[in-house]
Amino acid sequence: MTIFTYYLLPITYYLLPITYYLLPITVNLYSYKHGGAPTRRASSGQEALIDFSVNISPISPPLPEVSLDSFALHRYPSIDGSGVRDFFCRRFDVAHDCVLPLNGAIEGIYLIPAALGLDSALVPAPSFYDYERACSTAGAKVRYLMLKDQEKFVFPGIEEISEKMKDVDAMFAANPNNPTGSRFPKEVVLALASRFPDKWFIIDEAFIQFVDDFPGASLMNDLRAFKNIIVVSSLTKFYALPGLRLGAAIAHPDTIARLLCFKTPWSVNAVADAVALELLNAGDFEKEVRRLITHERAKIFKRMKQIPSVSIRGYAANFFLARWKCDSSLDELLTYLMENNIFVRDCRNFPGLEDKYFRFAIRKPEENEYLLKHLQRFAALKETLAP
Ligand SMILES: Cc1ncc(COP(=O)(O)O)c(C=O)c1O
Repeated sequence: MTIFTYYLLPITYYLLPITYYLLPITVNLYSYKHGGAPTRRASSGQEALIDFSVNISPISPPLPEVSLDSFALHRYPSIDGSGVRDFFCRRFDVAHDCVLPLNGAIEGIYLIPAALGLDSALVPAPSFYDYERACSTAGAKVRYLMLKDQEKFVFPGIEEISEKMKDVDAMFAANPNNPTGSRFPKEVVLALASRFPDKWFIIDEAFIQFVDDFPGASLMNDLRAFKNIIVVSSLTKFYALPGLRLGAAIAHPDTIARLLCFKTPWSVNAVADAVALELLNAGDFEKEVRRLITHERAKIFKRMKQIPSVSIRGYAANFFLARWKCDSSLDELLTYLMENNIFVRDCRNFPGLEDKYFRFAIRKPEENEYLLKHLQRFAALKETLAP
């Protein structure tokens, strides 16, 4: 640490302009298109677009209506996001020194490869793009762990992953994975972490509160015995708060201490810190989201199975990955949906999903019904026209 800080850090500073030219152009912030940002309005103009492209809860938690004055915006917030830390400790029963509050999970995804000085990492594909981008910008080489449709995008077993771990010093994975909705069971992570104590396992649990077996499925309470597992958690998806930027890294206290050396001060703002504490009163909301998602997930799954031109994957979280199987292009389907004020996530910019894949979130019952009706209608039209 000392050698790195005093000698290598200044050297890397001078090398930065060189590494900039070595970075692929795709790491530019605007090169990759995420969901949740419709670039054009619904064609009919008047009706609001229903955004199925962003996979957050369809209802919002109860938050008190307060004026901005109550957040003391004329003062700096806590340097490290103390409200967010308190929320994680009290809601998920984790110790204070195991929590590093973040400006959304994304801050952790970028902080970790840099703070750990990763040289190489195994990253699942298809998966959330920013694992790859965060590794690249930190100078770490990325190897893909390909998940295949023929295998329902299920993660490979321990032996196959162990083989790949020999060539890297870390693995990123999400449980459940986005956009495939497949699981990476915590038992597998614990087994790998025991087998490779010198390698890092960074597990993104952004969608974990949607799974049927939460909280048992989460690694958050298993980290005292493992210094090499870091859970990245997000309050964005389940609590439908993407605008606030709320998340945390949960890990062994020694690992948190290491990350703290690289942590940006004040990255959690005063409003986010205060709202995090309000979420401690969201017990009824949490039950309602889980009830709604469980019910709608089963209904959508059953109905989608009856549409032969669409195949569907992922049952764990609050979204589905679908594939348009008709001869007609995915663009035709997406245009038809847009004309009817429905915006889904075109997934063709994920490696492995170039062939007509799209993702849609589970929303309120009437909205899901509207999507299903239009998918059924368009599929029926194309099936009738098929030669
Ligand atoms: C798997 C996954 N992890 C993390 C994030 C980012 O979460 P946050 O909004 O908390 O930064 C996203 C956002 O889409 C995601 O899909």
